[in-house]
Amino acid sequence: MRLKTRLIHHPGSVCEHTGAVSPPIYQVSTFKQTGVNRHKGFEYSRGENPTRRVLEQYIADLEGGVDGFAFASGMAAISACFMQLRAGDHIVATEGLYGGTFRVLSRVFERFNLTYTYVDTNDQEAVERAFQDNTRMLYLETPSNPLMVITDIGRMAGLAHSRNALVVVDNTFMSPYLQRPLELGADLSVHSASKFIGGHSDVIAGLVVTKDKKISSGIKQIQVSVGGILGPQDSWLLVRGMKTLGVRLRQAQESAQAIALWLCSRSEIEQVYYPGLDGHPRAQIHRRQADGGGAILSFRLRSSIDVDKFLTSLEIWTLAVSLGAVESIITQPSRMTHASYPSELRERIGVTDHVVRLSVGLEDVDDLIADLENGLNGAAS
Ligand SMILES: Cc1ncc(COP(=O)(O)O)c(C=O)c1O
Repeated sequence: MRLKTRLIHHPGSVCEHTGAVSPPIYQVSTFKQTGVNRHKGFEYSRGENPTRRVLEQYIADLEGGVDGFAFASGMAAISACFMQLRAGDHIVATEGLYGGTFRVLSRVFERFNLTYTYVDTNDQEAVERAFQDNTRMLYLETPSNPLMVITDIGRMAGLAHSRNALVVVDNTFMSPYLQRPLELGADLSVHSASKFIGGHSDVIAGLVVTKDKKISSGIKQIQVSVGGILGPQDSWLLVRGMKTLGVRLRQAQESAQAIALWLCSRSEIEQVYYPGLDGHPRAQIHRRQADGGGAILSFRLRSSIDVDKFLTSLEIWTLAVSLGAVESIITQPSRMTHASYPSELRERIGVTDHVVRLSVGLEDVDDLIADLENGLNGAAS
């Protein structure tokens, strides 16, 4: 079956006991045993829960992995990936990645003696230079948040594997509908499922998908030991949201493309960052590994534009953190999603106050453009 069909007819989509076409929500912590350790595969919901299992098999199927794991947030899922490492190990990671990932490395894992180096992970020489004898993981975000920098997953996975490092890809911006990192050579794919996968700004969740059983057993160990699991209600919400992932993303991507082109024609805009544009410096690489530019784009306003005035004058765009929802969201990364970066580093990687990120939703694209136009007209000094 093709992806669009598998979004609807996924493992567990029909309840085997009742024929219900939506999985039951097993709101339960423990399961009755018929003798000590004699049970039907479910013992305690931190380890396994039937509703969560439907979600986990669903995401594994969509991404072409062997197993899926659902966590209480994207950050819990990302942390589980880092927890596979040992004290003294080193990570090479994409420069300018999501602020929460930067924060968990610098404020939490550094205390456990994990070290890391940020580089442009598409620059082979820079990646080779960054690799050390103790490098055990290449952590990629492509497109990166918020400047949409692209990394060639297959090429960099080859390099990392030749040096015995695991390859993790944060696939939040693309979702399995547009990009499947495991098929390109990654070992683990990780998502903030709070975004496109949930799609309705009503759940915080994270997912990990693994390439083989050995990696699965490590992630399972972390999931059950640390316990940052997703509850059954939220698992069900994701299963419901994922069915419309394809139609949502196709529509939002079409609007994002139109908005990106419109922004390119505006004198108030210095630069547009969107891998669906021919002028994106790594558009070719992105096209080879993903099925579209996606629904997120960023742009840099000219310094003459009053950013606060622009952001607060919009009527349809919701000023908020997060992305990947039915409503269109506008964010100023420097003061919102990337506020945990030291300001000098933010400046160096180009996430300045004049960078604005858009997550395109499902409203009429003409209304979205008209709202941006009003905002820009009012904010030019
Ligand atoms: C690319 C990316 N990865 C991970 C996360 C963290 O996910 P969560 O907020 O679900 O913990 C985010 C959140 O914005 C994100 O944008």
